[in-house]
This record gives sequence, structure tokens and C-alpha cells, in this order.
Amino acid sequence: MSITGLFLILFLIVHLTVNSMIVFDDTGVLFNQAAHFMATDPIIGIIEPVLAIGLIAHFVFASIITYQNQAKRTITYSGLKRYKQKDSSVGSTWTSRNMYILGAVILIFLVIHLINFFWKMKVSGDPLLEEATGLGGDIENAYALVTTKFIEWKWLVAIYVVGAIALGLHLHHGVWSAFQTLGWSNRKWRTIWNVIGIIISVIFAGGFAFIPLYIMIQSMV
Ligand code: HEM
Repeated sequence: MSITGLFLILFLIVHLTVNSMIVFDDTGVLFNQAAHFMATDPIIGIIEPVLAIGLIAHFVFASIITYQNQAKRTITYSGLKRYKQKDSSVGSTWTSRNMYILGAVILIFLVIHLINFFWKMKVSGDPLLEEATGLGGDIENAYALVTTKFIEWKWLVAIYVVGAIALGLHLHHGVWSAFQTLGWSNRKWRTIWNVIGIIISVIFAGGFAFIPLYIMIQSMV
């Protein structure tokens, strides 16, 4: 879980960097160039299936661990199942106890996200992608697709904000927990990873929520 989780964080760093081009350049040129590079670069083409496998592995391992943890809480006495009378909130944070739920929210967000952008760019196509980019060649107008959807569908912006918050909370616990599992932690390092976890979660939650909000608000002023 730790290795797949840290690998997914690397993907998110690249993804947020590429997406932030939307904010830095209102003409869309920077984002279209970056999206085109991501879609055509052969190395990214190799990494993409690895990413998909990493995502699936992360979800499968999470399901197994959650199932095992639930089973451990149940003790069987002569065929009767009883639950340990233990307050699970003692010594643990809300995020650590709800990692699976947060992961499920992110997964639902991801399905909506992939249907809206990935599917249109890779499979079905969309008239917005055909709009002129001013860059020549066969470069798709990913900027037009992304910005138009966020301007037209306010509910989609709300879904992105919820997804970004769930991602931030998930990473808040996930980062230090991953390093702890890998054995790269002691009392001092646990504090350091915890702070790094908070910084990473604020950057991702803030960044991924800010982009759709920025596009929507900019269209209204
Ligand atoms: C501001 C928010 C976001 C925007 C504007 C955005 C934009 C995009 C776009 C345009 C694509 C299609 C790229 C292509 O097929 O060439 C894509 C794909 C993808 N996005 Fe996002 N994304 C955002 C947030 C997220 C978040 C929060 C996650 C993960 C939790 C995520 C995970 C993915 C994945 C796994 C893919 C498919 C792999 C890929 O094409 O690189 N995205 N995104």
C-alpha cells in the first residue's frame, strides 16, 4: 500500500503541475502544449499503464487490509460473534479511521473525472477538442474542453472541490503512514513526515480545488 501510494503521489505532482498551466496562462497555449506532451511522449505512454496497475493494486490492497482489520475486531465465542468493547477513536485520528471511506470518495470522483476528460481525449473525442489552438499540427484543445465544462457545469466544480478535500484528508494520514510502514520512521521522523504530510495534503487539496474554482469565478467576473 505504501509503495503504490507513494507512486500515486508522484503522478499527482506531475498532474497538478500540468493542470496549473491552466491558471498561469489564460490563452490555454501552455496547458495545450503540456497536455499534448503528456499524450504523445513515449515514456509517459509506458508509465500510464503502470499508473493504472498502481491504482488498482492500491484499491485491492486497501480492501484486503480493511476487511482483515474488521475481522480482527470480531471475536468468536462458541459460534457467536461479539465485538471488542474498544473505543477505536482513542489514540487515532479521524482520517486514519476513515481512510477507506475517503479512498472510496476519491474513487467515485476519479470515475466522474475520467469519464469527463480522459475518455473524451482518448476514446470518444469531443467537438471542443477540435477548436483551433493556434499551435498548428494535430494538437487537441484540451484547454477548451476543461474550461468549458467547469464554466457550464457548476455541479462539476462542486464535485472537484469535494474530491480535492477527500484527497487532502487521505494524504494527510497516508504520507506519514507510508513512511512508517516502510520503516523510515522513529519518534523524530514521525513528526517530520507528519508535517510533510500536512504540507502535501494542503498543496494537493488547495491546488486541485483552486483550478476549477478559478475557471468558474473568472468566467463570472
Ligand atoms: C483541477 C483538477 C483536475 C484537472 C483539470 C484534471 C485534468 C485531467 C485531464 C485533462 C486528463 C486527461 C489527460 C489525457 O488523457 O491526456 C486527466 C486524466 C487523469 N486524471 Fe486528472 N485532473 C484533475 C484532478 C485530478 C485528481 C485530483 C486526480 C486523482 C485523484 C486525477 C487523476 C487523473 C488520472 C488517473 C487520469 C488518467 C491518466 C492520465 O491521463 O494522465 N486528476 N486529468
